[in-house]
Amino acid sequence: MKIGVYPGSFDPTTNGHMDIIERASKLVDQLIVGVLNNPDKTPQLDVNQRVALLETLTKDLDNVIIEPFTGLLVNFVNEKKAQMIVRGFRAISDFEYELQLAQTNHMLDETIETVFLVSRTDYAYISSSMVKQLVQFGGDISRMVPKETERVLFASMEKR
Ligand code: PNS
Repeated sequence: MKIGVYPGSFDPTTNGHMDIIERASKLVDQLIVGVLNNPDKTPQLDVNQRVALLETLTKDLDNVIIEPFTGLLVNFVNEKKAQMIVRGFRAISDFEYELQLAQTNHMLDETIETVFLVSRTDYAYISSSMVKQLVQFGGDISRMVPKETERVLFASMEKR
């Protein structure tokens, strides 16, 4: 069984993330979306909210499951008996970081491959941090994120 892990912060999930999830799910028997729980960071949405949002957004994708993880990604990948890490690649600005991440993970465990899916050109400009900035200043994010992300994000802003 071919199992892939698509890891990320997903704070929040964007249309770009959803495109990668849908496409990656067709390449493997099971896709595990790994949601990083980093105790050193204060995300806009806590890990439970990020997991719940992704579960809602992927409910129609039968071979996709959502799981939080802490610590090293390669440990999570091995724990799940996965063989590959999937990452999205938007623009040249992603290159250095993604290369470093993939090479570090390969150094840590040579049996795990990182596979990159290039983003659709119309989603290439979308990032979670840009989405959060726009929401903070009342900008329109409707073309950047799914409706459910918009709802959850605005609700979390109101609570603050
Ligand atoms: O969505 P992001 O924030 O770009 O995702 C980054 C992520 C979660 C893939 C990366 O930070 C990660 O894998 N963190 C876990 C710790 C780890 O294994 N780092 C790589 C070796 S330094």
